[in-house]
Amino acid sequence: MKKLFAVLMFALLPTLSFANAEGPELEKVDIDVSDKAAMQDGARTFANYCMGCHSAKFQRYERVADDLGIPHDLMQEKLIFTGAKIGDHMSIGMQPSDAKAWFGAAPPDLTLVARVRGTDWLYSYLRSFYEDPTRPWGVNNTIFPNVGMPNVLVGLQGRQVIGCKQVQVVEGGKKQYDPLTGTPLTHEACDQLTVLPKTGALNEEQFDEKVKNLVTFLAYSANPVKLEHQRIGTYVLLYLAFFFVFAYLLKREYWKDVH
Ligand code: HEC
Repeated sequence: MKKLFAVLMFALLPTLSFANAEGPELEKVDIDVSDKAAMQDGARTFANYCMGCHSAKFQRYERVADDLGIPHDLMQEKLIFTGAKIGDHMSIGMQPSDAKAWFGAAPPDLTLVARVRGTDWLYSYLRSFYEDPTRPWGVNNTIFPNVGMPNVLVGLQGRQVIGCKQVQVVEGGKKQYDPLTGTPLTHEACDQLTVLPKTGALNEEQFDEKVKNLVTFLAYSANPVKLEHQRIGTYVLLYLAFFFVFAYLLKREYWKDVH
């Protein structure tokens, strides 16, 4: 028994240390993979802004169209730019060796990235590019330092810079206010990201929504059967509830004679 316990502890060690790993704090995002409108918007952003460099080659266009409720002709017209057919995998023409020469690192396939990195990480990463003239693309990222990817969403988000600014004091998850005047208590914090006003097509709220939809699409892509599981799960529960009534009636019938 003791041995088993020791083995279990060792098996759990990597997850424990991973959970405690120091790193920039991730922004939490609430993802709903049954929200088809969100995923359609995410798929559009993915096709327009990501598939120049990243594939999602374990996924087929047709499956995405069917799961997300997009008619095939619309999918072909609006979301397939690579000359591919609807039944094809979502692959791209860029060669990994070329990509490595251009970016210093090959853009990985993104079909499963939501499982590898987690949705909070993706949401935080895509919103954390900032201007850094020392980098080849003029941008860096607080979540992925010295990343090889340019900030492809800059036109939507606007130019983001890093620096020190006054931020509101937060204690125990609550924003703090001066008890006398009611004004927010602030302190100076550095490594803070700020979007320069009027440099992007979307405001902050709209941009966050756009990224959230994109991450929802990536979460679906990493686990497309989840939608199906939810649907089947409902039927299974209904069946069990229905069956329970009969089982109960039958039990009563049998026990009547015993009493
Ligand atoms: C111009 C090419 C290009 C475009 C367009 C692009 N990326 Fe990237 N991306 C890269 C490169 C290159 C890397 C590898 C960076 C590295 O390892 O330093 C990368 C890395 C990533 C990673 C990190 C993967 C990992 O686990 O290490 C994610 C996530 C990602 N990209 C998402 C996106 C999304 C989402 C879009 C669309 C909004 C997008 N990318 C558009 C080039 C691109």
